Amino acid sequence: MPSFAVIGASRGIGLELVRQLSASPTNTVVVTVRNKEKSTYLNDLVRRSENNNVHVVEADVVDQHAMDHAAAEVTKITGGALDVLVHNAARTEGENTIKGFLDYETPEKLDEEFIASFKVNVLGVVHTVNAFLPLLRKGTAKKIIVIGSEGGDCSLVWRIRLANAAAYGTTKAAENMVATKYAAELESEDFTVASVSPGIVDVSKTAAESGFYVPSEELMPTVNKIMNGILAAFPKATTITPEESCRRLVSFIDSAGPADSGIFHPSAEYID
Ligand SMILES: NC(=O)c1ccc[n+]([C@@H]2O[C@H](COP(=O)([O-])OP(=O)(O)OC[C@H]3O[C@@H](n4cnc5c(N)ncnc54)[C@H](OP(=O)(O)O)[C@@H]3O)[C@@H](O)[C@H]2O)c1
Repeated sequence: MPSFAVIGASRGIGLELVRQLSASPTNTVVVTVRNKEKSTYLNDLVRRSENNNVHVVEADVVDQHAMDHAAAEVTKITGGALDVLVHNAARTEGENTIKGFLDYETPEKLDEEFIASFKVNVLGVVHTVNAFLPLLRKGTAKKIIVIGSEGGDCSLVWRIRLANAAAYGTTKAAENMVATKYAAELESEDFTVASVSPGIVDVSKTAAESGFYVPSEELMPTVNKIMNGILAAFPKATTITPEESCRRLVSFIDSAGPADSGIFHPSAEYID
């Protein structure tokens, strides 16, 4: 009975990942969300699920105590062990996500966005891994998968000349480092700790509001500029569906082993 915890999966890529993982009746899938009642897409998935193998627990990744409580809830569901932890949560809300360093109205707003992004995209992963590590140590697969982004890869960002998404990209870069640190820490215990990109994914169908991945009309020129920069550097780049993205992610999760640890795995479109 392989067990999975998908952290921050009320919508978007996380939601589809839960749908695909729970399609196998032998899997147990625990999902954390910030607000159960408002997680309407996930609630619908749980209602329709024929396998009765999706369990939803409330927790905000910025809060270590909430993540510890979530891990305690997972212990009750799985009997104390966890095979695979997928950290998917990220701060993607609002037009702030798309801004460069020079686009903030005030220095206070810039600081606010950077600190909020750091709490979710960096400390959030640390809180998650620290909370779930005792369960993972008792599991058989010992896999920690962090959903990363090309926006946090310095060499790719330079090739694209991507000045936008400064807070998002800076904190997603730090997120990769968090995964690398845990990979080094846990190598002797045969853990696999890797960050992987889902690709450029159209998550508009399950969006909560407009934002980085679901831009409003005013943001479209900036988004188009970013896409043109990506295409100039990587002509194969294209937007994919959550279904296609998660097919690739599930395959990566299945096959990933210790040899994949410690590095960020870009999406196929970004590999020359
Ligand atoms: N879509 C893309 O093209 C793309 C490209 C590269 C990388 N990624 C990465 O893929 C992952 C998923 O992105 P997405 O496109 O699916 O974004 P999304 O649709 O905006 O979903 C983000 C998820 O993170 C959750 N979340 C946000 N803050 C949280 C917190 N403090 N605690 C717990 N959960 C929190 C959200 O839950 P709420 O409903 O509670 O807000 C939501 O379920 C992210 O790590 C993102 O960086 C996406």
